[in-house]
Amino acid sequence: MPDTARNFVGEPLLAIHDLHAWYGESHVLHGIDITVPQGTVVTLLGRNGAGKSTTLKSIMGIVPKRQGSIRLQDHEIIELAPYAIAPHGVAFCPEDRGIYATLDVKENLELPPRIDQHGLSTEQILDLFPQLRERLHSPGSKLSGGEQQMLAIGRILRTGARLLLLDEPTEGLAPSIVEQIGDTIARLKQQGYTILLVEQNLRFAMSVADYHYLIDHGQVVASYDRQTIEQHTDTLLERLGV
Ligand SMILES: Nc1ncnc2c1ncn2[C@@H]1O[C@H](COP(=O)(O)OP(=O)(O)OP(=O)(O)O)[C@@H](O)[C@H]1O
Ligand SMILES: [Mg+2]
Repeated sequence: MPDTARNFVGEPLLAIHDLHAWYGESHVLHGIDITVPQGTVVTLLGRNGAGKSTTLKSIMGIVPKRQGSIRLQDHEIIELAPYAIAPHGVAFCPEDRGIYATLDVKENLELPPRIDQHGLSTEQILDLFPQLRERLHSPGSKLSGGEQQMLAIGRILRTGARLLLLDEPTEGLAPSIVEQIGDTIARLKQQGYTILLVEQNLRFAMSVADYHYLIDHGQVVASYDRQTIEQHTDTLLERLGV
């Protein structure tokens, strides 16, 4: 594997080493190594079933069995229960977005607990996503896909997490909305958040991220920075099956 991780600038906020994960008897991650430097955007690329979501879920402690090392700053978190992992400053936005259909935007936003003083207030979240302000009293079921995604991202900012794990935030969204999600990610990065992002949309990944890992069959098979990924676009499009 070309180890561009060595060229990473800055302290790693998240360092995953030799991560294995299982669902029952099914062994799905086979020794993942990933470094996410503080203040960067990093993507996990890979085909359906490669193990991208399982990697994010392993960080949150919500995969039944895992082994290896997951370090968040100086803390080893692999043995911790999910409720004990979130206070280390990490939050997860799942692929299905997890919006409550019967609750309105404000209620959905105010659901997660604030963990520390970094947590954004409802007002601050609405400043980041002005469209949500207009929809404040609409139920989750009436939101467009883009609005749901913004709500899902906005909601995790309330916790005070500084490391955001986003699972396919652009999936199923129109190009103009994808662009808005890209702008949001860029703004969050400017504000000092660190983002680990699962993406199948290579062009989008290239536009937002500093580093990329290609995952296949539960292993990291390649990694790239902004320059090296440009030289591998054709092969990647083929490998991602898009
Ligand atoms: N809850 C589960 N129980 C059993 N097997 C699972 C479960 N979730 C995922 N798997 C299996 O684990 C492997 C990795 O799945 P994962 O969801 O991590 O892939 P992914 O890269 O996120 O794929 P996709 O692009 O389709 O979201 C797949 O073979 C999948 O079928
Ligand atoms: Mg997935």
